[in-house]
Amino acid sequence: MQNLTSHNGIYFWINQTSQEHSDMVKVILIGSSFEKRPLHVMKLSGRRGAVNRAMWMDCGIHAREWIAPAFCLWFVNYALRFYSHNSEITEMLNNMDIYILPVMNPDGYKYTWTTDRMWRKNRSVLKEGSECVGVDLNRNFDARWCTKGASNDPCDPTYCGQYPESEPEAQAVAKFLRSHKDTVKLYISIHSYSQMLLFPYSCSYDEAPNHNELLELTKEASTKIRRYYRNHYKYGPGAKTIYLAPGGSDDWAYNLGIKYSFTFELQDRGRYGFLLPPSFIPQACNEALLAVKITALHVIKNTQ
Ligand code: ARG
Ligand code: ZN
Repeated sequence: MQNLTSHNGIYFWINQTSQEHSDMVKVILIGSSFEKRPLHVMKLSGRRGAVNRAMWMDCGIHAREWIAPAFCLWFVNYALRFYSHNSEITEMLNNMDIYILPVMNPDGYKYTWTTDRMWRKNRSVLKEGSECVGVDLNRNFDARWCTKGASNDPCDPTYCGQYPESEPEAQAVAKFLRSHKDTVKLYISIHSYSQMLLFPYSCSYDEAPNHNELLELTKEASTKIRRYYRNHYKYGPGAKTIYLAPGGSDDWAYNLGIKYSFTFELQDRGRYGFLLPPSFIPQACNEALLAVKITALHVIKNTQ
């Protein structure tokens, strides 16, 4: 058996998990990557009738951020194991469907396992024989696309692509969310590293209409993480808290009408960076889980 979080391991795990929990998990194929790997979304639901509220969480937009896919797997395992035992996860699954995309960038992710551990972008080739490969998927969405904070040079790590949603991975996610925008009330994108709870906007210094609510909510999550896990997470709008970065999925989802939209940057703060040792995975995931629970329960309370 290969490692469970290797790229093939994750396909194996998605398949096995959905078979073992067919009452709570459905797998939806939303598209495929540049190299034609399937993009599988797992739809988690409680044992109940249909509801018309949902949340979305994606992991692994950026290839080298290995704690992100690990968290998506962790979250699904937690939800299935503790549904009807832990009150928060039970309330989440009883009141919303949870769409999880464990690896948004499977080609890049595979590349970090085989060839270059520090690769960030996807693996799309502009034209045969061009020397630089890959688009930054988190600069490829239609939110002040390719303005300051992104690059139009295909050789740069923040290359925005030829046009918004030029990349099949970004397009698949955008298409799915557009067609589910009436039910999806919460969007979360999982990244690493730097320990931050970010919300719109990242593509400009404008304040989002519900800025104060999002600020309070991320502040609450940060406070609880500090209290329970003794770890420090910054919180705030992306542009001010980390840097100006247009074309991100969170800003795009927000502008689509998903008023609770976040990017969570998990551990650490730079000591190991993308090379977070496996022994840190449990705490990193528990911290992120707490932030996901707090935001999801707030959304359940404040939307219909
Ligand atoms: N480190 C992330 C990135 O560079 C930050 C994402 C924040 N959101 C955004 N739309 N830029 O993509
Ligand atoms: Zn990232």
